[in-house]
Amino acid sequence: MADPTRYSPGLRRLHWWMALLIVAVYIAMEQRGIFPRGSAGRAGMMQAHYWLGLLVFALVWWRLALRRSHGAPGITPPLPMWQAIPAKLLHLALYAFFIVMPLLGLATAWTDGKQVLIPFTQIAIPPLLAENEDLAHRLEDVHVTIGEVFYWVIGLHVVAALYHHFFRRDDTLRRML
Ligand code: HEM
Ligand code: HEM
Repeated sequence: MADPTRYSPGLRRLHWWMALLIVAVYIAMEQRGIFPRGSAGRAGMMQAHYWLGLLVFALVWWRLALRRSHGAPGITPPLPMWQAIPAKLLHLALYAFFIVMPLLGLATAWTDGKQVLIPFTQIAIPPLLAENEDLAHRLEDVHVTIGEVFYWVIGLHVVAALYHHFFRRDDTLRRML
């Protein structure tokens, strides 16, 4: 039977899988330097970044559909407005991030002439954008800047969850476990 005090099981599972995916997406790109330039390892890290990011893009639609049909359980005790509104905006920003970042990343890769290979093959998915170095740099700047800003946004999200659990002592976190 559905538990009205928690997010639906599908939403909980997706939350944690997607949180892990996001961490993996960042690690793949930030740690690519452990492999020398031009090595297969480095190329593998890049491809992992691309595909884990695209997986986020695929999953977010399923998650949004579940969120629409199941909603979110209320927090006990309820949040005052001045906390409820920023919390809602933060969640909206995270959902937007799941959609915008993979699209920007894909556009960056294509305009930069980087191949997005079907995993475990050397077959590239056909680019929908022509190479354009200038545009590639601008897209990459936006992709990287949002990526950096979201370290803080995601950090704030985690700190807020811990604040609710350990200081406000409400059921915010338990609803997601
Ligand atoms: C949730 C999804 C994503 C996040 C959070 C993300 C985050 C990042 C970050 C933080 C960087 C900068 C790393 C650095 O220079 O230190 C980066 C670079 C990049 N990302 Fe993503 N990314 C995502 C999805 C994608 C996807 C789906 C693609 C392509 C299919 C992509 C392609 C790229 C490219 C081409 C770069 C520039 C790499 C270079 O320096 O050559 N990203 N991404
Ligand atoms: C240790 C890490 C994390 C903890 C403890 C955590 C905790 C939580 C909690 C307690 C909620 C419910 C908030 C509420 O309903 O008011 C939530 C929702 C959410 N979390 Fe996280 N989270 C973590 C990591 C992440 C990461 C890495 C992301 C994505 C980048 C993320 C994205 C979201 C989103 C989009 C929601 C909104 C869910 C909805 O209402 O539809 N979380 N998280």
